[in-house]
Amino acid sequence: MRFKINFQPEGKSIEVDAGTNLLDAAKHAGVHINAPCGGEGICGKCRVIVKQGEFETEKSGHLTQDEIDKGYLLACRTKIKSSMTVDVPIESRIRAGQKIATGVMGKDFKELVRHDGFAESLTKKVYVELPPPTLEDHTSDFERLKRELENLDYDMEGVLCDLSVIKRLPTVLREEGWKATVTLLEDGEAVEIVDVQPGDLTKKRYGIAVDVGTTSVVVYLVDLVDGRIIDIASNYNPQMKYGDDVITRIVYATSKQNGLSVMKDLVISNVNTLTEGIAKKNNIDLNLIDNIVIAGNTTMTHLFYGVNPQYIREEPYVPVANLFPLTKAKDLGIKVNEQAVLYSLPSIASYVGGDITAGVLASGICRSKELVLFIDIGTNGEVVLGNCEWFVTAACSAGPCFEGGGVKFGMRAMNGAIEQVAIDRNTYEASYKVIGNVKPTGICGSGMIDAIAEMFLSGVVDLRGKVQIDIGSKRVRSGENGPEYVLVWKEDAGFEQDIVLTEPDIDNIIRAKGAIYAGLAILLKEVGYTFNDVSKILIAGGFGNYIDVERAITIGLLPDLPIDKFKFLGNTSVMGAYLSLISRHLRKEAEAIAKRMTYLELSVSRSFMDEYVSALFLPHTNIDAFPTVREMMGRNSMKVK
Ligand code: FES
Repeated sequence: MRFKINFQPEGKSIEVDAGTNLLDAAKHAGVHINAPCGGEGICGKCRVIVKQGEFETEKSGHLTQDEIDKGYLLACRTKIKSSMTVDVPIESRIRAGQKIATGVMGKDFKELVRHDGFAESLTKKVYVELPPPTLEDHTSDFERLKRELENLDYDMEGVLCDLSVIKRLPTVLREEGWKATVTLLEDGEAVEIVDVQPGDLTKKRYGIAVDVGTTSVVVYLVDLVDGRIIDIASNYNPQMKYGDDVITRIVYATSKQNGLSVMKDLVISNVNTLTEGIAKKNNIDLNLIDNIVIAGNTTMTHLFYGVNPQYIREEPYVPVANLFPLTKAKDLGIKVNEQAVLYSLPSIASYVGGDITAGVLASGICRSKELVLFIDIGTNGEVVLGNCEWFVTAACSAGPCFEGGGVKFGMRAMNGAIEQVAIDRNTYEASYKVIGNVKPTGICGSGMIDAIAEMFLSGVVDLRGKVQIDIGSKRVRSGENGPEYVLVWKEDAGFEQDIVLTEPDIDNIIRAKGAIYAGLAILLKEVGYTFNDVSKILIAGGFGNYIDVERAITIGLLPDLPIDKFKFLGNTSVMGAYLSLISRHLRKEAEAIAKRMTYLELSVSRSFMDEYVSALFLPHTNIDAFPTVREMMGRNSMKVK
């Protein structure tokens, strides 16, 4: 039997088989519901309210009795038994308005580009004017073209050429009176005639640099003649509806029928949409885009190519490839010039990907004589320590906490998210700042860091993150998940609920910050250094753009070093992809970085576990390592700027 499901307030409807779960029905209807755990019933974020209809639902510890009484249930745990009307509350919707870090062409990047000079893309365009054939010179079209290229000093011995190019050759060469532009790919010894187009197109060359992030996708449209970034486009990675982190994506890709091709098609069509949009906006023919460079973590890169990521998550955690061979856009379904060549930044290991190689390249650590720490805080945390001679790297399993996962009212940095918090030291009253100046519907990573720092400094929580229930404030109370702090009363919230931080939420945030700090500490320890030996700490990633360093030090997420040692770089993944798009030299440098990087597997490291356990306190078990925090604990309340 099939039933009609109507989703409110969007009013979208879909007909599905009896027994389908509500989350799947929503996906088919094009209704985007938060599903960080990919529908496993773990995250509790896919909450909906059934207004009408019959269903069968599982019990969940994520719903309080009050919520159950109001009709809330988890979409992924609910089976359809009749036609239904379902309300998707604001906190469960994936909405527009997220701050997506798109990278900045800072002074350092400009230095890198200047160092190399422009115009060394993956392929080369060569303009040729061929003598037309005569009865005396009746060489074939292809031989005639090769002869001309040999005259221009290109080695045509063993040249490769796609049959589709040869098929078009007679028309293309005659279209502009034997004047044509040849696209050549020189890859080591091998030379390939990638394309032949009529007329002189050497001054019309475009490429795209793409950051394939777990949460968002960013595309730069680049003029390959002068290396200029023409325009930038970005949006969510639509794979998000199948889970927020790489593990849930791998599980979907490897356990569901056609899962891998669903994942690949989603990201490719997203890149197509973004590219088509900016090309159209800038009056650029998609056919003139013939170079593509992508950077992504190892899982995202596998999914982009449609390559099985299964062994990334199984011990001993082996990817299929770290450096994928050059590929044609048409083989992946990217709708630009069908002969366009695609390159991806090399990964280092299963959990340190091409986005980190790109970051190390773009941040310039590879040229620093001094010791630099690089941190990418995104859906997970990757850390790199090194200088111009060596690098060590590790991935910290911080989890998706700072992007909203594992926190009852956690959400990404989008409209409605609390991004700054202050708590009065005497009254325990909270003040906060909300992205988009709307009523709050949750709290994002930077807000969580602020909130925990303020709760700690005001005495709402102790150094273990336990809520002090007896401090005498109505904001501190016992909830269904244990003690909690009310950040926003429901009268001020964007929905009919108080926004709280519960003790399990605080626990998860402390675990996430502990994993990142321990990762940093262990990298230094392994090579015999301390935090004081580090000259700079570079913070990359979308989330890293918006955190308050002082508060991050207060909770022990970042080490207690002078503030001027920290620098935010934004999206270094797309910047590294861009640099690799416009420079052969920097592409080679990226490959050298990946080869030089020593990867530490923290999941089997005993000393990492010791560091991690020591970091599960506010700010740390060793308060001597956080002297400014000790000092701050005596200060008065700090109101939100
Ligand atoms: S609990 Fe339903 S998607 Fe996570």
